[in-house]
Amino acid sequence: MSDSPATPRVTVPSVRSRKVRDGAEPLVMVTAYDAPGARMADEAGVDMILVGDSLAMVVLGYDDTLDVTIDDMAHHTAAVARAKPKPLIVGDLPWMSYHVSRSETVHNAAKLIRAGAQCVKLEGGRKRVPMIDALVDAEIPVMGHIGLTPQSVNAMGGFRVQAREREAAVRLIAAAKELQHAGCFAIVLEGIPDEVAALVTDALEIPTIGIGAGPRCDGQVLVMHDVLGIENRIAPKFVRRYADVKSTSVDALRAFAADVRGGEFPSSAESYHLSAEQAEQLSIYGSTHH
Ligand code: KIV
Repeated sequence: MSDSPATPRVTVPSVRSRKVRDGAEPLVMVTAYDAPGARMADEAGVDMILVGDSLAMVVLGYDDTLDVTIDDMAHHTAAVARAKPKPLIVGDLPWMSYHVSRSETVHNAAKLIRAGAQCVKLEGGRKRVPMIDALVDAEIPVMGHIGLTPQSVNAMGGFRVQAREREAAVRLIAAAKELQHAGCFAIVLEGIPDEVAALVTDALEIPTIGIGAGPRCDGQVLVMHDVLGIENRIAPKFVRRYADVKSTSVDALRAFAADVRGGEFPSSAESYHLSAEQAEQLSIYGSTHH
């Protein structure tokens, strides 16, 4: 995507029709949590920016995604939206924001839409259908998310690849069809075998977007901090790092610290100066006060 102001914004209907089997290019989605991240994703020409609840772990330092609130998500969605990026902004509904009632779900989703998201994402299969129904009824487009759903970490007993067994794979395909029927315009498939992701993708008219789900989805999503190597503490199998921003940043900060300690920063060129006359007046002032 170019920087041209003529480049149109990506819309929900344009994403809904992107099936690779119909000749479409794979969709590209990346997370962002602030305005600089949104500008980078925009300049790189991605199709969608996910303000993911991975915010909790990637930016806010929590161990899982369960601590992040709808207000945290709205705060970061607004920061992304202020960059006015062309990619579609997907606001992630955090845990407990869509589990209690249809009315609470719609009000919470509205917070993300009012913060600047064009649609929302939520995790789970069949049991989420009433909430998806309520959202679609309120004209809020919904992206589904099935497979390894990080908000279910306690129920799953950890972050584990899902749908390895036949019955679980069949259930996953059925869940995907139910989400599509409920009105989802796309579905994230996370942490499932490539073969199962291919079956789900084949079974749907709407696009699938994979993360740890192999290459046969209609698109791929990764966490920006993983792509850029902003953190290098953990490297899941499905992540490909395209940069080592952490090392580059630590080197740069070390160099800054060394320059300060060695008296080499700031230089005269990096400082503001008085005119000779102003300096003279000040030196008189200084001499009478010291
Ligand atoms: O929150 C997030 O970053 C996500 C992606 C991993 C799909 O949900």
